[in-house]
Amino acid sequence: MPAIAYLECSRCHAHVSAETPQTVCPQCGAALYVHYDMDELRHSAARPDPAAADHAPSAGMWRYAGVLPDVAPVTLGEGWTPMLRSRRHANLFLKEEANNPTGTFKARGMAMAVSMARHYGLKKLAVPSAGNAAGALAAYAAAAGIEAHIFMPRDVPKANYLEGLAYGANVTLVDGLISDCARIVAERRQQEGWFDVSTLKEPFRIEGKKTMGYELVEQLGWEYPDAVFYPTGGGVGLIGMWKAFEEMEALGWVTGKRPRMFALQASGCAPISRAFQQQASVSEFFADASTFAAGLRVPKPFGDAIILQILAESGGQALDLSDEIILGSLLDWAHNEGILLSPEGAAATAAYDYLLCHNVLKKSDRVVIFNTGSGLKYADVIAEAMKIDAHTGGVDSPRPAVPPEKDHRGIELPAKSHVGGIITPQ
Ligand SMILES: Cc1ncc(COP(=O)(O)O)c(C=O)c1O
Ligand SMILES: [Zn+2]
Repeated sequence: MPAIAYLECSRCHAHVSAETPQTVCPQCGAALYVHYDMDELRHSAARPDPAAADHAPSAGMWRYAGVLPDVAPVTLGEGWTPMLRSRRHANLFLKEEANNPTGTFKARGMAMAVSMARHYGLKKLAVPSAGNAAGALAAYAAAAGIEAHIFMPRDVPKANYLEGLAYGANVTLVDGLISDCARIVAERRQQEGWFDVSTLKEPFRIEGKKTMGYELVEQLGWEYPDAVFYPTGGGVGLIGMWKAFEEMEALGWVTGKRPRMFALQASGCAPISRAFQQQASVSEFFADASTFAAGLRVPKPFGDAIILQILAESGGQALDLSDEIILGSLLDWAHNEGILLSPEGAAATAAYDYLLCHNVLKKSDRVVIFNTGSGLKYADVIAEAMKIDAHTGGVDSPRPAVPPEKDHRGIELPAKSHVGGIITPQ
């Protein structure tokens, strides 16, 4: 595992030492990236060898220890998730992040952040969360013997509340959104002695999530796909994967054209999609955010400028679709692929259908879609969206209303959807 050379500001490029815990850039307040001595890494870090014990699937994301900070991992078996090929589209792959501890990809970032927190001797961590990051922090903090203080909207999926309590975290339900939770953490952290592990406000969650980029390239035989579909809330995974691509290229692990990056959102909370349509370099606060894809309910992502820059640089797009369409895709994948997606993952699969239908993508394009979590964490939320009672609903329960519009395969389509700058009536 390499030593960290320095932390670098994503905006003003100031260098900061990683000897002590850091939050954001002390000069300008933007997110910090971990940097290594790449010359040294070129000698010390080799592409994982599947025959080596360190790189066995059981090593999870730590098979990439050669490009992660030198720290004793707090691990629950995160990473090295399956890359499943769609049964219907030969070139479509689903990166199944539901297989992670706590059922979502948030495990990767929190495994890394909590490992570093333990390394620094931090005793109390706090996080504002849309739900799943809180669950992951609670689990890893329990494993590390560190206190977790989590703040989530009152209407998070029930599983998020329960897992927080079960792992022994201090859980506060807030009447508001993640932005209100973030304000509370910011107001109280100093007095309470909490270290804030908010999205992009400490450098190591990106470092954990970058392993998704390494994995997807390795699982495709050390080749880039044509496109990556990422359900975007705070955008940490997207940012982390882009960093991974840059590192892999510097190490000579991969060559060729980087994938087009697609940020998928729900129409009820689409700050990135809206900014992309308006060709803005930052997003505006998305008022009255509401969607059953709880993880996408981030009305003003802290890293919005970085996300938008990656979309532009990669030739990708942002797109938002309605909850109705997202639910349609979720049920479509459950019925036809045997996979119960999270609503966030279904935002991405719905977007795939949409973009294929509108010739933004071709069937021959190799696409990796991230299912960022298990649909099982959303039993209450999905039941509500299906208009069934989660407890009494069963074979007798009403099925969701048949939508008026369908695509070429009979999949529901929205009356109006946003693709980049174009509003396309069906
Ligand atoms: C299941 C799921 N998918 C996607 C996201 C968005 O993740 P990011 O903040 O990395 O954009 C979240 C965030 O809470 C989530 O829980
Ligand atoms: Zn800066």
